[in-house]
Amino acid sequence: MRLDELLFTQGFGTRRVCAGLIQQGLVSMQGLPCDDPATECPVEGPAFNFTVQGQRWPYRRLAYLMLHKPAGTECSQRPGAWPSIYTLLPAPLRQRPAPGKTQGVQAVGRLDQDTTGLLLLSDDGAFIHRMNSPRHHVPKVYEVTTRHPVEARQIEQLLSGVVLMDDPQPVRAAACEAVAEHRLLLTLTEGKYHQVKRMVAAVGNRVEALHRSRIGGLALPADLAPGQWCWLDAEQLARLQGKQATALPPAGNQRI
Ligand code: URA
Repeated sequence: MRLDELLFTQGFGTRRVCAGLIQQGLVSMQGLPCDDPATECPVEGPAFNFTVQGQRWPYRRLAYLMLHKPAGTECSQRPGAWPSIYTLLPAPLRQRPAPGKTQGVQAVGRLDQDTTGLLLLSDDGAFIHRMNSPRHHVPKVYEVTTRHPVEARQIEQLLSGVVLMDDPQPVRAAACEAVAEHRLLLTLTEGKYHQVKRMVAAVGNRVEALHRSRIGGLALPADLAPGQWCWLDAEQLARLQGKQATALPPAGNQRI
């Protein structure tokens, strides 16, 4: 792939803008300055990287990210009352041209405005579908702070199933345990609208704070602060999908 095409695919602007960045000497490839837009880039190598205006980037054919969603942000591209989580991503990630039928990098499911924690983002349509689909039973673990003390009866009900207003089929937690008087660890394998809040309300309690700490085999890293994002590496992607890391496309382990 040519260097100007590479920058274009990674979200650095139109092909003309990308060629201009290169010709102005603002781009290096694998650490070496390069001012010829036609330079061929060995992107299939395991950790191909480039630098634009002093910032180093890994090449990613498809983007897989995690974000520590802070409270007071919306997962919508066109938010109403709160800032969008997309403002937490650097411009190239928001501007990458959409591959195939996807709409560019987008959140894998949504968290409420006041929910914090692990949010995946990607522009791989098949991955987004797999992670979201209730048929794939990807477990999502929520740390729930409740207004009232948690009762054993409430845990039993959450595990055996509660009926929510819009659906006659009961929904049940895949796992649920009290970890403190006002704290529950709740695992769901589907993602209905406000599901945790509605399930907890249905058993007579109320969610005061909600944090998603895990999706499948991937836990939110303790050193990823609220508002920060990072690329998923091949091992994390494999853990999410229950596969061997070697079966996945190369994806380095850099944080920006
Ligand atoms: N369930 C909720 O009620 N809210 C979230 O943000 C996620 C799951």
